[in-house]
Amino acid sequence: MNLADRMERYLPRQLLELLKDIRGRADARGERVYLVGGIVRDMLLGYANLDMDLVVEGDAVKLAREVAETGQARLLAHHRFGTAKLKHADLTVDLATARKETYARPGALPAVTPGTLNDDLFRRDFTINAMAISLASDDYGEPVDPHGGRSDLERALIRILHPRSFTDDATRILRAVRYEQRLGFELEAQTAELLSRDIPMLDTISGDRIRHELELILGEERPEPAIRRLAGLGVLQRLAPALTGNGRLADMFVKARTLTKGDQLTALYFCLLIRDLDEGELEQLLGRLNAPAGPSRSMHDTLRVKNNLALLDNAALKPSEVYYLLREYDPLAIQANSIAAEASTVRAHLQLFLTRLRYVRTSLNGEDLKDLGFSAGPEMGEVLRTLHKARLDGEVVTRADEETLALSLKTPDHGADREHGRE
Ligand code: CTP
Repeated sequence: MNLADRMERYLPRQLLELLKDIRGRADARGERVYLVGGIVRDMLLGYANLDMDLVVEGDAVKLAREVAETGQARLLAHHRFGTAKLKHADLTVDLATARKETYARPGALPAVTPGTLNDDLFRRDFTINAMAISLASDDYGEPVDPHGGRSDLERALIRILHPRSFTDDATRILRAVRYEQRLGFELEAQTAELLSRDIPMLDTISGDRIRHELELILGEERPEPAIRRLAGLGVLQRLAPALTGNGRLADMFVKARTLTKGDQLTALYFCLLIRDLDEGELEQLLGRLNAPAGPSRSMHDTLRVKNNLALLDNAALKPSEVYYLLREYDPLAIQANSIAAEASTVRAHLQLFLTRLRYVRTSLNGEDLKDLGFSAGPEMGEVLRTLHKARLDGEVVTRADEETLALSLKTPDHGADREHGRE
């Protein structure tokens, strides 16, 4: 069934025009252009997606350059491996030269050579992601579906294209679960069997690539079913044996979403995910994922704050005491513990820190203290700390209160120095 009408209804006018401009140039060059991958899948499912991926049987970079020269779009980037990005208004379109991939060994990045559309579809992960729609003028809207993606969409199945798929690229293990849970599909029987068999192949994948796939999962609208599923399959445990996605994790993820979004939310999910590991296990996992310094710190702090929770379970603590117990830790780590905390006193203290205590500042600074006759040095530092503590505990409220307190802290010596200094 031709999909031209469906494309016309699904894609915004401006984008259709840009695609037709690209197609026009391709026709003139004797090349064929296809819409491929996730957008074809989502168009058939009726889900919104504006990730325009085009495959060119020809030279994608030259084609993109010619489109840019006619002024229809701007060439944003182009790369050695025959890929280019065009931008028009706020729309972007990725073009790639059709390619053939061969894997020298499991987990290695593939060797890439130019190929046909069919080669390009065959190198992909799942049948539902391995479909294309022709944009060429002589068969505009014709679907290309050599692996039965359409039928798998209808049957709600995630299916790999060949039995070596997970061995070639074990990130597909994580991707399979991501699509399965996002779309409410099931792993086709043989795919499920091979996925389980090939879980050890995750060891062939670099930390950066595994981390990227985990980030994609945690970037989903509701990542908790995928995390639970990964734990059920034993995939998480391959990354860290103690990572089991405990029973409360799903509720904690739901709570996390009410508090923040975007990259911060992903970082918060990571903190919740690792909260049951011990320091050694976490250290190993971070090494495995080649995690950058920032997120590593948030996760380490999550365990450190967790170790302090017993001290925070005390309703008699003064705000300043809460502050000193928490001030050196990443707020994200405190947030993660607040979500996970079972005791209401602990939660209240963590929230007090996050919403109020960490922002408390004194009115007076060092310069103001000098005007009051203090000289710079350790004693002034001590006075500032005392003022800050009094602020935290609500013992001083106004600037005048702070001045009174500061003057009451002045030692006779200090005063004498000042008189002396002025003479
Ligand atoms: N792809 C693949 N194997 C991978 C990564 C990507 O086969 N390890 C292919 C799939 O055909 C996929 C396409 O490249 O559809 C684009 O990849 P990506 O942007 O990650 O996937 P989308 O399908 O666009 O997924 P999403 O909806 O999550 O953006």
